[in-house]
Amino acid sequence: MAAKNGSIFANLALEFVRVTEVGAIAAAAWIGKGDGKAADQAAVDAMRTYFNTIDFRGEIVIGEGAKDEAAELYIGEQLGSGKGPLFEIAVDPLECTDSVAHGRTNAISVIATGPEGSLYRAADSYMEKIAVGPHAKGAIDIDASPTDNVRKVAKALGKEASELTVAILDRDRHNDLVAEVRAAGARVRLFTDGDVAMAIATCTPSSVDMLLGVGGSAEAVITAAAMRCLGGELICRWKPKDEKHVARLHKAGVTDFSQVFRAVDLAKGDNVSFTATGVMTGPLAIGVKVGAKHTETHSIVMTSNPRTVRKIKTRHLED
Ligand code: FBP
Repeated sequence: MAAKNGSIFANLALEFVRVTEVGAIAAAAWIGKGDGKAADQAAVDAMRTYFNTIDFRGEIVIGEGAKDEAAELYIGEQLGSGKGPLFEIAVDPLECTDSVAHGRTNAISVIATGPEGSLYRAADSYMEKIAVGPHAKGAIDIDASPTDNVRKVAKALGKEASELTVAILDRDRHNDLVAEVRAAGARVRLFTDGDVAMAIATCTPSSVDMLLGVGGSAEAVITAAAMRCLGGELICRWKPKDEKHVARLHKAGVTDFSQVFRAVDLAKGDNVSFTATGVMTGPLAIGVKVGAKHTETHSIVMTSNPRTVRKIKTRHLED
């Protein structure tokens, strides 16, 4: 029974790649045009339209957009034809809106899915995050100092602290964090946007060993699904930016801001999946390439049951 359900969810995960592909292609039309909101809107519209052609019942449980007052697939929105199994969806139609607007790197169109009760249902706000790959899974502690986490993760990976690379979003709020990580002897890789891809990079042979810092909550749930598939770990805790965020979280039923979440709390159960398509090249995927006769996309589809990672290169030949 479990295997049968597993295959239903894994098969639909492959269908969902068309959703992120159309989202990525729509957003890519806005690369470098200085209009992130239009890029977001294009991805949202394309994804909503394609989602509704798939035979399934989907509900958005957390989406990215409200915190930036951007276009969004909103929490509670029902998607799909209404036939077939019920799925919960965490979505960021365009992760790294600014990167697209300014022609930078690391933008993706991304969703995570799972059966009813699997994905954490909450509002779009901010969370403190710490993420590592499978080999350092037991070494991190959100209550420990960055110095301690650097030391323990380096030990778990068999490295010196000086050989460790910590990815941190380049934001003023992280100035003290950056200083402490450097003082602990590690390298800091500052990045302008895209903590989903940077967290996942800790699970792949790459130059990132740990992600630290505060980023979006929808991104946290999406990252958690990827970590469940890859065997890495994400630990996080709410960090609302201001009173408006606090009110939004209260409305969504979040009252305990001290609660600590692990990947398995944000993406529960045996059948979670993660699907992303590159809009602009970054650690996770190559961006959309538009040729004279076709458009090419690069996607990644991960499922937790069976534990698979597929990389899909697609040529879209239609106009
Ligand atoms: P969006 O472009 O999808 O809003 O997110 C980009 C991002 O860098 C995320 O990866 C990160 O979690 C979040 O923004 C951080 O928020 P902020 O840019 O407000 O610091």
